[in-house]
Amino acid sequence: MLLESKLLHKPVMVEEVIKLMDVKPGGFYLDCTLGGGGHSLAILEHSSPDGYLVGIDRDPIAIAKAEEVLSQYKGRFTLILGNFAYLSELISKTGIDRFDGILFDLGLSSIQLEDPERGFSFNRDGPLDMRMDPNIPLTAHQIVNTFSLDKLEGIFRDLGEESFAHKIAKAIVEYRKKKEISSTKELAEIISSIVKRRGRIHPATKAFMALRIFINSELENLKKALTQALSLLKPKGRLCVISYHSLEDRIVKNFFRESGERIITASVIKPSREEILNNRRARSAKLRGLEKL
Ligand SMILES: C[S@@+](CC[C@H](N)C(=O)[O-])C[C@H]1O[C@@H](n2cnc3c(N)ncnc32)[C@H](O)[C@@H]1O
Repeated sequence: MLLESKLLHKPVMVEEVIKLMDVKPGGFYLDCTLGGGGHSLAILEHSSPDGYLVGIDRDPIAIAKAEEVLSQYKGRFTLILGNFAYLSELISKTGIDRFDGILFDLGLSSIQLEDPERGFSFNRDGPLDMRMDPNIPLTAHQIVNTFSLDKLEGIFRDLGEESFAHKIAKAIVEYRKKKEISSTKELAEIISSIVKRRGRIHPATKAFMALRIFINSELENLKKALTQALSLLKPKGRLCVISYHSLEDRIVKNFFRESGERIITASVIKPSREEILNNRRARSAKLRGLEKL
């Protein structure tokens, strides 16, 4: 049975992933986005008694939490701290060269989002950080306090698909002439002063997402990782990707189309209404899968 109560991040579409990845005993699985370990826990459970899992995350806190969550399966998994953009190199250290299933559950975990000290959330006041990996040199603080108006506008427009990109960039540049922008709340207030709330969506949602994508090079990393993931699959092995916004999903969709492999999600899989009601984070999730020929 899944020990849901141990999980600090509710995994999205777990049953759908297990089915799509065709998880079975004795299989070798790779979770490239370990997070709180929810999907990995389900993979280990469904591949019992002898399936093996390799889990990767670039956030040392995620690795530590997942280690704890998966502890009952000790001996059946290896966890690696690293960026999935370097997937082949990371995997070469495990002695495993091919997998039956590979999963990417992109974006942030609730553990990261809800920790004010990580600076990802406009709802929790904290330092402007937003780094998934604490060794990345650039923080949100440096970006909003030093980048030019054009560069800021480009980030909000291209990575946040924010129609008020210019206005937001201008407001930031004006504000910092008087005072350094030092907290998530301060930045969220600057944005809220010029962008109207859209339904339940906070006015700073898109701008915060854009900064996070930029700081963590999320789109570049995804592009690099997908090619490597495909070459790490056994024939008939399955690659599953959950994305949370259109830029990510477009990369996955195009990669799948151009791969020449068999696409096993004729139409994209979305969470049930019930799951969305229980986990708001799931509302934008899209699951795609392919099978290597
Ligand atoms: C949505 S969470 C995964 C949640 C996980 N499936 C679970 O059930 O708890 C995404 C995770 O991927 C990690 N991540 C994002 N980009 C990464 C990258 N380039 N390399 C390694 N890990 C990455 C994040 O640090 C985060 O912990």
